[in-house]
Amino acid sequence: MMEEDGFVLFDADPRVAAWAAVARRVAEPIVSDHSMRVANLRHGKTWFVGVDVLSNDPGGRVAGVSLSGPWERDVPRLPQHRAQVSIIYPGYPLQDPDESDANHRFRINRCAAHVDGLLPEGPARRRYAREFHAYILGLPLNDVASAPTVVWRGSHRIMRAALAEAVGTQAIGSVDLTDAYHAARRRVFEICERVPLRATPGQSYLIHRFALHGTAPWEGPDGPGRMVAFFRPEFPDPADWLAA
Ligand SMILES: [Fe+2]
Repeated sequence: MMEEDGFVLFDADPRVAAWAAVARRVAEPIVSDHSMRVANLRHGKTWFVGVDVLSNDPGGRVAGVSLSGPWERDVPRLPQHRAQVSIIYPGYPLQDPDESDANHRFRINRCAAHVDGLLPEGPARRRYAREFHAYILGLPLNDVASAPTVVWRGSHRIMRAALAEAVGTQAIGSVDLTDAYHAARRRVFEICERVPLRATPGQSYLIHRFALHGTAPWEGPDGPGRMVAFFRPEFPDPADWLAA
């Protein structure tokens, strides 16, 4: 399924449920802290970004509970960073004062679809490969159905082919990938199905590093924010990133 679709939504697993319960308990005071909120809230305070905020160890263990689950057979073993704890609140996405109308519309209409690691640089916002994630692992910390992560089925193949062609034999980080990336993204929007990854604690989802993904706007009534922990371990060698 990973090779075909570019993502896998796993069934609930008691090991994952135990980890999610503890991670939520550890995360709550961190994400409630005033200075953390000032530093992390975006889009009219409807998204707590929460990169690297969870106090897990390099094995993913948090408060003595180890991280293991059904994704392990599908991914390389790599040291984990501190997990992102991403919280989407009712009304997401509101528009920040410094956000262009076009970017805001893209966030609403296309879920701010992106491939991780292709970072815009300079006033012209040209994109270069700067982060070489091996995969994205999502672990829901509460049971909220609104604003799911979305992924475009099969998009990882189109993206990988386009980026590999653009890079060719050049050094990965030296190549301006903007045009190849935008063209491939347009192609994905034309032909790939957008799939919402609705999941509850104990479930998990794995997203291929080249899969186009984003976050759906909040729909439905107000309620608690939707909280997900994300791991995106990096390859030690960037050359592994474009390898099949
Ligand atoms: Fe992402």
